Amino acid sequence: MEDIATKILIIGGGPAGYVAAIRAGQLGLPVILVEKDQLGGTCLNIGCIPSKALIHAADAYYQALGRQQGSVFGLQTGDVTLDWAKTLKWKNAIVRRLTGGVEGLLRKQRVTVLKGTAEIQDGKTVLVHGKAGTTRIRTQHLVLATGSAPLQIPALPFGGNVISSTDALALTEIPKKLAVVGAGYIGVELSTAFAKLGSQVTLIEAADRILPLWDLELTAPVRKRLTALGVTVMTRSEARELSEDGRILQVHQHGSGAAVPVEADRFLVAVGRRPNIGGFGLERLDLAMNGAFIRIDKYCATSMLNVWAIGDITGEPMLAHRAMAQGTMLAEHLAGKKSAFEEPVIPSVCFTDPEVVCVGLMPDQAKREDYEIVTGIFPFTANGRAMTQQDESGFVRIIARADNHLVLGIQAVGHDVSELVNGFALAVEMGAVLEDVAQTIHAHPTRGEAFQEAAFTALGRNLHS
Ligand code: NAI
Repeated sequence: MEDIATKILIIGGGPAGYVAAIRAGQLGLPVILVEKDQLGGTCLNIGCIPSKALIHAADAYYQALGRQQGSVFGLQTGDVTLDWAKTLKWKNAIVRRLTGGVEGLLRKQRVTVLKGTAEIQDGKTVLVHGKAGTTRIRTQHLVLATGSAPLQIPALPFGGNVISSTDALALTEIPKKLAVVGAGYIGVELSTAFAKLGSQVTLIEAADRILPLWDLELTAPVRKRLTALGVTVMTRSEARELSEDGRILQVHQHGSGAAVPVEADRFLVAVGRRPNIGGFGLERLDLAMNGAFIRIDKYCATSMLNVWAIGDITGEPMLAHRAMAQGTMLAEHLAGKKSAFEEPVIPSVCFTDPEVVCVGLMPDQAKREDYEIVTGIFPFTANGRAMTQQDESGFVRIIARADNHLVLGIQAVGHDVSELVNGFALAVEMGAVLEDVAQTIHAHPTRGEAFQEAAFTALGRNLHS
């Protein structure tokens, strides 16, 4: 068996792990990164990136079909068809470009990438089982970045017609009838995409509304669009039992207690994700946990000295940008720089139609924290750019303390609002007050003007609504 020693050993080559490795490499630290599958993890290979590619392709197809039926500004198109095999090829090419880029960046920083499965022996020793045999690595610092995987529900184990989001992004045929269990991020994003691609979609959600983590005001335009797309939305409904032929799902409705059969070719289960904490000897470290996740402090230190954890295994929100920020911070901390992960502002985006974004506190959270708040809302129906883009649904909402106008949270729902969210995050991170936002000249005509107008509204000085 080959023996190697290093300063930092990272298990997991997803966004948390590869970013930590690149930053540590830049800072001159010897790093080994172990990955059993593809570099880039869920995000690049089977999550954020391929799903956004399919969401885009589905929207382009749907738009083209819509225009074929006549456009308000006179655009006429011919027959619209979609070569699905070509769509998948294009999506896979984007994934390859990005994962290839990550490989190149790691090489440039002289990070040793070991392909194989890690098996933790103790806090300083890891075996890596690869194609060419096993390597034993002795490390000063062990970094756990093993990510998360889709949750299963006992009634619908993955396999056959029951698919996870990973399978949904690689379907070689667009299902005629698709049932989606769970109306969270993944369920609503993919229901929208497949409805635009022509599937007859039924969306089944246990809570009393879609996207239950976000408030009703914010998610109402998404619900309206789902209905317009022909998606059947069943709320307060739970997936119970699949028929033997894998075609009919019994859905139990809370309240009435009725069992409703839902027929489909495929059943996509998107009921959340669980941290990957099993199967690689982690139990030998007996780390302190925080529920299902590994407990960490503001430096991403676990309960064992020089064992660190970053990304989805450390808790919510399980988002790639949080994972990457933790990876960067940890590399800098290990290089002796002053760096900590202390209550940062983490934006969230749901790439639905229209998109939904959130930064900081929502109104009900602010009230729960005993803040007296002022709220400003500006609708896209009063925004010139939105009119010229033929999509006026949604609004920007800003929440601030009533006493000193400190901005506590900003949310929006609307076309392309994902491109506004980083500006929102900057405002909250920098401690902006309503006057800062209102007095910043926003370019005209842009959707971003709705942000400035929302601040004016909260100050009681709105100009355009
Ligand atoms: P989620 O936690 O967002 O939503 C799961 C939904 O399933 C919830 O609304 C829940 O009430 C419902 N549910 C649970 N059990 C059910 C049952 N038996 N029957 C019916 N409904 C049931 O989880 P999701 O969508 O799987 O996403 C997992 C994670 O992936 C997210 O929390 C997020 O961290 C990440 N993600 C982020 C995206 C983004 O940033 N745009 C996109 C996709 C995923």
